[in-house]
Amino acid sequence: MDITILGIESSCDDTSAAVIQNGVMLSNVTANQDVHKAYGGVVPELASRAHQQNIIPVVDAALNRAGIKREDLSAVAFTRGPGLMGSLLVGTSFAKGFSQSLDIPLVDVNHLQGHVLAHFIQEKDTPFNPPKFPFLCLLVSGGNSQIVLVKSHFEMEVIGQTIDDAAGEAFDKCAKVMGLPYPGGPVIDRLAKEGDPKAFTLNKPSIEGYNYSFSGLKTSFLYMIRDELKKNPNFLEERKNDLCAVVQSTVVDILMQKLRKAAKELRINEVAVAGGVSANSALRNAFVEHGEKYGWNVYIPKFSFTTDNAAMIAITGYYKFQKGEYCDISLPPFAKAVIG
Ligand code: KG4
Repeated sequence: MDITILGIESSCDDTSAAVIQNGVMLSNVTANQDVHKAYGGVVPELASRAHQQNIIPVVDAALNRAGIKREDLSAVAFTRGPGLMGSLLVGTSFAKGFSQSLDIPLVDVNHLQGHVLAHFIQEKDTPFNPPKFPFLCLLVSGGNSQIVLVKSHFEMEVIGQTIDDAAGEAFDKCAKVMGLPYPGGPVIDRLAKEGDPKAFTLNKPSIEGYNYSFSGLKTSFLYMIRDELKKNPNFLEERKNDLCAVVQSTVVDILMQKLRKAAKELRINEVAVAGGVSANSALRNAFVEHGEKYGWNVYIPKFSFTTDNAAMIAITGYYKFQKGEYCDISLPPFAKAVIG
């Protein structure tokens, strides 16, 4: 019998629904929320209101595109956390109501585990080459920067993580310092293509083990710009591309240095990247280069699976469903959580 899972993701500012049947993605529909652009960051109240408007049309579109009727669904999987509470509540409430009305199981998914398992989404007519266990996954988004040791679909251990800002936050905050729009990561990525990554030097943190720190980078960047502006009031405008290239290459160097250390010490050469920042071109290039130089098998997600999406929730739900790991309807969403 077919196992058909509807996945629902609403942890931040993307409302997404996807259908996965027997591990193969049939649809993945996401409504982005432009409403936050004017505020330079996600406004939680506006996000949950937009989720309420989007959730029914998005689920409808996902089912239609998949050619699946509600009665064909085996279970509803949803992001229970971590994320913004108001946003999570919309997806959670919808998933609970929908599964109850169809009398099918409800499966809760940890958003971070979903990002890692995005590497296991199969697509029709596309070669399927997931990482082999155990593998390392660099999980980098606006809220997280972690190195995860993935031993199976369910056994995941965070061996290193940021002690302050996440990598995406570093991109976004440095972009804000330069007066660039939110989210700053993609803008920095674009402008950096025309810049010189060696034009300036920023302080790199020295943190123990496999942990990260990005808050010092932002401060070092801020002070450098402040000093340069005293000498040349047009500094920002004239050197914007170089500044973007420097921020980007510094963040990527910091990320890769700890990942190299982990791969070497744990003797693992299966290495994946996941999360919103994995869309960054310099980070993707660094993965390819490391693969060639250190003999790693690298796994870089398709762009549509880098940012928040429901396909990664549906695939995680698919594995949990097969283990019979269902969620009680009384369980509330959670804002903070770790993998494992
Ligand atoms: O995973 P994600 O969509 O949302 C969560 O944080 O959960 O990640 C969003 C983050 C933002 O900080 C954004 O600036 C960053 O990913 N990002 C990028 C790029 N695309 C998105 N950072 C650098 N380069 C990019 N191309």
